[in-house]
Amino acid sequence: MKRMLIAITMLWPCAQVMAVPPDGKALYQENCARCHGQNGKGDTGPKLVGDASEWKRELFERAVLKGIDDQGKPLKSPMPHWGAASFKTDKGIAPSKAEVDAIQRYLHTLK
Ligand code: HEC
Repeated sequence: MKRMLIAITMLWPCAQVMAVPPDGKALYQENCARCHGQNGKGDTGPKLVGDASEWKRELFERAVLKGIDDQGKPLKSPMPHWGAASFKTDKGIAPSKAEVDAIQRYLHTLK
């Protein structure tokens, strides 16, 4: 019984994260919009809508988390390497793939 309780307590936070899908729009506005523009059309950073928003999911994740673009080239500063950073609301924890996917899905809905 004790072991069961420990298992439940350990799984509980995961279950909560899974129950609430990440909000791609909020994550984008808080962490990306200042460089890539409010509508993903570009600013100091390149436009993402109609470009990286259409990349394969794995390529988009790699660009955001590891700083490597679709051609295999390293992305230059000031594009952050998010794998070694954290989204504002994540309090120091590196972004998850689910969060990055949610941002791409949000960008995909923008025209
Ligand atoms: C401080 C400014 C800045 C922030 C914040 C930023 N980026 Fe970037 N991003 C850039 C710049 C500049 C480039 C271009 C780098 C290069 O060409 O080498 C870039 C490139 C990219 C690329 C590759 C685009 C392409 O066509 O090659 C993707 C994808 C990307 N950023 C996604 C994001 C996402 C998603 C976020 C938020 C989680 C974000 N960026 C936050 C500045 C930023």
